[in-house]
Amino acid sequence: MKLINLTLINFRNIEKEDIHFNKNINILYGGNGQGKTSILEAIYFLGITKSFRVGDEKAVVKTGQNYFDVSGKFEKQNSQTFSIRVYFSGTEGKHVFYNKEKIKTFSSIIGTVPIVLLSLEDLDLTYGSPSARRKFIDILISQIDPKYLQSLKQFKKVVLSRNKVLSLISENKEDLASLRPWDKQFAEYGSYLHYERKLILKELSSYVSKYYQNISGTTDEVEIRYQSSVANEDDADLEEIKKRMYQRLEETRQRDLAYGSTSTGPHREDLLFFKNKQPLKIFGSQGENKTFLIGLKFAEALLIEKHLNEKPLLLLDDIFSELDQFRIKQVLETIQSDQRQTFITTTEADKFGQDKEEIDFFRISNGKILNET
Ligand SMILES: Nc1ncnc2c1ncn2[C@@H]1O[C@H](COP(=O)(O)OP(=O)(O)OP(=O)(O)O)[C@@H](O)[C@H]1O
Ligand SMILES: [Mg+2]
Repeated sequence: MKLINLTLINFRNIEKEDIHFNKNINILYGGNGQGKTSILEAIYFLGITKSFRVGDEKAVVKTGQNYFDVSGKFEKQNSQTFSIRVYFSGTEGKHVFYNKEKIKTFSSIIGTVPIVLLSLEDLDLTYGSPSARRKFIDILISQIDPKYLQSLKQFKKVVLSRNKVLSLISENKEDLASLRPWDKQFAEYGSYLHYERKLILKELSSYVSKYYQNISGTTDEVEIRYQSSVANEDDADLEEIKKRMYQRLEETRQRDLAYGSTSTGPHREDLLFFKNKQPLKIFGSQGENKTFLIGLKFAEALLIEKHLNEKPLLLLDDIFSELDQFRIKQVLETIQSDQRQTFITTTEADKFGQDKEEIDFFRISNGKILNET
């Protein structure tokens, strides 16, 4: 997938800009607060239909205006072109268009423009809470498997409903039998999430070491494992997981009733990252952590490409600041050999050399694109 053209209107500090991108590497450079990340945010909107920075779209509308409008012209691997447009206003809400046709359910368009984003917030992925890691794997699988996104939505509803019923039972307003249909649905959707996550993580894990070694120049082995309270072995099939998940709900019922919440299941599970069999969270240095995350995102891009037969766009937001010259060179070489269209923001353009063929430089100043080379 290539983004050929991007038009932004009233998006953050950008009033109106039209940008024609390079099919390889695009470097958006400029001082702090000029609009670099905003451009990545706009591209992300076209693929995921949401911001990666805020939940409320109102914050994205340029101060003093009442709507934003972003559209992109894309070219697929088979040279077909199409456009996506996201329009939002406080009064009319959000509208998404594919080739000018209005999309009814936004989730149906996810995966059309596959995207892999790496931003400074992702550094939290290793050290932060399990919910950030679940979000990472959920967004990844949602882009390659529409059924996963549907199951995830249903599952979240079931958890809320089940928790409500748990509270009602504790208050003697419902009897225990009313839990059963919720437990069934929980195991139905939950087992699919668990099964898919484990399958995809296994594949992701098989790609990540190669990238880590390329970027770091080491022979370190890194891996990812899924941690679950239901089934941790690799070979449990979907039916087996469903059965066990249902059983776990019975085992934890007393505790769940006491707390009015569901204590076990995919909404509480986690991913673990290892380097040479030791947890990165405890033993990894900051540089290793960063290198692992870059490797992880490259592995994610490769996985998406294998499943969709389309290369995702790679958005790298300000991730080069603490990397040494060797690692920067290795990252750029990896991008070039994988041939994924990449968008890099940085305050220091001179770090990247001036390879005119492969790289285009865009200077961003006060919401304007000043020069294209
Ligand atoms: N809704 C909005 N309307 C107008 N300006 C906004 C809005 N939201 C954010 N801004 C401003 O837009 C500017 C650009 O933000 P952006 O995050 O894109 O900067 P950046 O170039 O990535 O900077 P940095 O190098 O610090 O990350 C900032 O000054 C920010 O305060
Ligand atoms: Mg920024």
